[in-house]
Amino acid sequence: MDPYPTPSETPDIALIRQSFRAVAGDPEALAASFYRHLFAAEPALRGHFAADLAPQQSKLAAMLAAVVAGLHDWAALAPAVAALGRRHAALGVEPAQYAPVGRALLAALDERAGRPLDPATRAAWLRAYARLADAMIAAGKPAEDPVESPVARA
Ligand code: HEM
Repeated sequence: MDPYPTPSETPDIALIRQSFRAVAGDPEALAASFYRHLFAAEPALRGHFAADLAPQQSKLAAMLAAVVAGLHDWAALAPAVAALGRRHAALGVEPAQYAPVGRALLAALDERAGRPLDPATRAAWLRAYARLADAMIAAGKPAEDPVESPVARA
């Protein structure tokens, strides 16, 4: 059975799902490859994570699968994405750290597929990742200072 039913998918979603399907059979290996690439490129990020990466790998793999499966209905995905963004902000994750994470994700997809993503598929992933990262970063921004609010002043 197709785990990613796609009644109304855009070309980007089709490309993302097609490429993800090719590597999704082993989500733990994808997540392991992702962290290997991330820490090779940005060793300083290793200190953010617990020594045992195994539970983290499973969570990342599950989140990726959920996002890929839910891309056709962003509104349904948005609350979980916002909560994840707030959690990351609370962990001290900076907006600038999202870019190397995106590069590591693409490198892991290339590695697990055994060849680089084709340019159209790469562009589709970059757009989807930017949307995800932007939503997480926006949700993690501190709320307006209530003292500045006319409602709070009234
Ligand atoms: C779109 C980008 C990202 C996604 C989809 C993502 C996904 C996740 C998920 C699903 C978790 C587990 C949450 C939980 O425990 O409930 C997590 C935890 C975490 N993420 Fe991310 N993440 C992203 C970006 C980043 C970035 C840029 C950093 C920067 C260092 C980061 C660092 C962490 C850390 C430190 C944890 C907690 C690890 C722990 O508890 O040991 N993440 N992330």
